[in-house]
Parts: sequence; structure tokens; C-alpha cells
Amino acid sequence: MAAVAATADSMPSALEGKPTLRIAHLGDPQFGFVTGRPSMKHRAKERFDDNYRDDLGRLERALARVNELKPDLVVFGGDMTQNPADLVKEWPSLLKRLQVPFVVTPGNHDMGNRLTFENIERFRKVFGRDRAAVDVKGWRVIAGNSQFWHKTEAKDEQAEYEAWVKAELEEAKSRNGRVILATHIPPFAFASDEKNSYDNYPLAGRAARLEAYAASGARFFLTAHLHRLSVRGYRDLTMLGVEALCANFDARPPGFRLLEVADDFSYSWNFIAV
Ligand SMILES: [Fe+2]
Repeated sequence: MAAVAATADSMPSALEGKPTLRIAHLGDPQFGFVTGRPSMKHRAKERFDDNYRDDLGRLERALARVNELKPDLVVFGGDMTQNPADLVKEWPSLLKRLQVPFVVTPGNHDMGNRLTFENIERFRKVFGRDRAAVDVKGWRVIAGNSQFWHKTEAKDEQAEYEAWVKAELEEAKSRNGRVILATHIPPFAFASDEKNSYDNYPLAGRAARLEAYAASGARFFLTAHLHRLSVRGYRDLTMLGVEALCANFDARPPGFRLLEVADDFSYSWNFIAV
């Protein structure tokens, strides 16, 4: 692979054939990210303004790098800001700078841990949509809104979303595995039958959703949310959880990844620091 400026932090590449699809995978820019974890005192809420400025700067560098790399698509993994009200501030102009088509999987910080009408409307105003299924280089990329699997005041929309996912997964079966799924929250963090936590889909319905994902023939599942590197699997699905662009709990540096996939489904997912 010549085109990618791989760093010492890169995952070992398993890519064998010539890549036919290149996706920039950006997780949790989350301008102003706050956590009370004792190990991350620099992310205390008193430092919100400084962190917001730094996080925004990192995202700007990431977008410049993406424009240089010219991937086929950008998948933003969600949590675009710490506070949903801030989505309208910088994101409209940031998106204008991006020279590559994109999809976004909305995060819990975008929608609310209990999804609200106000948040979903604001998100759609800024990003155009809260879910998307797009065709890229013979692949189908289906970017979902996993907050619908959690608490929501938009009950009618939840049913409509469920029907959308079902129809998309059904259609995906004709794609001979050339399908990539994405949501902000991963279906599971460590094991498919683990108990409910902040880091997974609710156990009620999780097994059925995973089986439906696998039955669609999809080969890759892109996630964010964990603020740490996570590589998992479920049947033929390779589940790639990207580092956050703001700050990580596992001491990984902030950055994003470039997924490159060949026709034989071999792939690389190299880390790009910013
Ligand atoms: Fe996040």
C-alpha cells in the first residue's frame, strides 16, 4: 500500500488485493468532551472551553487529511459535539469544507440518552438525515441511528426506523456480502450476550438484531462510542470500533482510521493520528 501514510500505531495490514473501496472512519469528535473519570482530570467540566477549542482543532486537521486522502466515503461515528445544542455552531461550515461524500451515525450525545424530538430535528437540520444507505463502488453502506434501540420519546419514529432497517437488511442480501453496516454504539463491547451497559445495545432484541445483521451478508460493522480501540467479530462480521478524535480511555492517541477493502474481502484499517 503506497498511498496511505501509515504510522507506527497502525494495525497490521491484512490487505491482499487491490482496494476497491476506501472509507475514512472518524469517531467521536465530541467538541468539549467531559468525563468525571479520575484518570482523565484534564477532561473535567471546568476545562470545557479549552477542550472544545482543542477538539475542534483536531477535527479540522482530520478533515484536511481526509481531503488529501480522497476516500470514497467518510463515515462519521457520531457524538459530533459534547452538547447537542452546539451542533449548529461549527458543523455547518465544517461540512462545507469536506470534499468527500459522508454519512453520520448519530451518537447518544447528539440524540440524548433518551432520544428527543428536539435533538433529532436539530441533527437533521445540520447533517441532512439521521440514517442513510448509500451505494459506493459496488458496496452498500448502511449507517443507522442506534439511539432508536434505547429510550426515546419518538415512539412512532422508532417503529418507522425499525421497518427501515429491516427493509435495508433484506435488500442487502442481494449484494453478495458487499455490505458495510455502521452505528454509533456497538451491538456489544466484549461478548454478544453480555449484560446491559452504557456500551452496548439493550439485551432485549440484541441477539435478533445481530442475527439479522449476519443474515444480510454484511462483512463489516463500523462503530465508535467506546473511546477506545475495539476489534470484535460475530459470525462473518468484522466489527471495527474506532478510537475517538477527542480523547481515549485506553491511552490510544486521538485520530481516525482508513478502511480499505479488496474484492476478496481482505482489508486494512490503518490509524491516522491528528
Ligand atoms: Fe462519545
